[in-house]
Amino acid sequence: MNIFSTKKDLTGCILSYKAKNKSIGFVPTMGALHQGHLSLISTAKKKNDVVVVSIFVNPTQFDNVEDLKKYPKTLENDIKLLDTISCDIVFTPSVEEIYAENIVSNKFNFDGLENQMEGKFRTGHFDGVATIVKTLFEIVQPNRAYFGQKDFQQLQIIKKMVKKNRLPVKIKGCSIFREEDGLAMSSRNIRLSKKQREAAPFIYKTLKKVQRKIGAKNITEINEWVENEFKKQPLLELEYFTIAEEKTLETVEKRESDKKYRAFMAVFAGKIRLIDNIRLK
Ligand code: PAF
Repeated sequence: MNIFSTKKDLTGCILSYKAKNKSIGFVPTMGALHQGHLSLISTAKKKNDVVVVSIFVNPTQFDNVEDLKKYPKTLENDIKLLDTISCDIVFTPSVEEIYAENIVSNKFNFDGLENQMEGKFRTGHFDGVATIVKTLFEIVQPNRAYFGQKDFQQLQIIKKMVKKNRLPVKIKGCSIFREEDGLAMSSRNIRLSKKQREAAPFIYKTLKKVQRKIGAKNITEINEWVENEFKKQPLLELEYFTIAEEKTLETVEKRESDKKYRAFMAVFAGKIRLIDNIRLK
C-alpha cells in the first residue's frame, strides 16, 4: 500500500497507473474508518484496477468549531485497517497542502438542493463538501467515486456538482451500513456515551416504523407521530424529520405515484449529531 501526503507524489503515482490504462476507484473519507467505509472500498475494488482512499478532515465543511475539534482522528489505526484490506493508495494531505493559506470554500449553486434539510441547519456545509470533493477529484482523477447513502443529500449534491462542472467521474451511491441494532455507521458514533449509544438505535427503529406506516397514515400525521415519539426519548433530541422527494430533496405533504421518496432525520444525542434516512416504498 502506498501512502502519500503531497499532491505531487500522489499525482506521479496516479499518472503511472493512467499510462497503463488502469481504472481508478476513489473513496474520500474523513478517517475514523468503520465497516461502512470498508464496504465502500470493497465495492470500489470490484470495479476498478486501483483503489485510492483519502483521509482528510476538511475544516471548511464544519459549521461548528467544537465539532471540528472533537472529530475523531485515528490515522494510525485507519492506515493499519486499510493495509489489512489491501487498499492500493492512501492520500493523507495536511490542511496546508490542500488549502495553502486560504482555508475557505468556493461558492456553488446546486439548484436548491443545498437549501433543504442539512442546508437549513449547517450553513456553508455543502460549499465546504463540494470544494474538497472537487479538489480531490482534480488531484486523484478517478473514473468512479463512492459515497454512502447515509449522507443522501451530500450524494445528490455531489452528483449535481459533477454534472454541472462536467467532471469525468461516475458517482456511485452505496447502501447504508448499519450496526446489528440498526444504528447507521458513522465516525461520530465512537463519541457517544454508553447510554447515548444504547438510545441511538431508536432513530432507525422510528424510520422503519415510518416506512410501515406510510401507506396507512398521511404525511402530516406521520410528522406529528415522529415528533411525539422523540419527546418520549430523554437522551435524543430531534432536530428535523422530513419526508422528501429523492431528486429535488423538497419536503412533501403528499406523495405522487411516479416519484421516489425518503424519510430523513437529524437527531442530537447530547452534542453529537446523528443523521439517517430510509427509502419509502
Ligand atoms: O462524507 C464524508 O466523510 C465527507 O463529507 C467527505 C465526502 C469525505 C468530504 O470531506
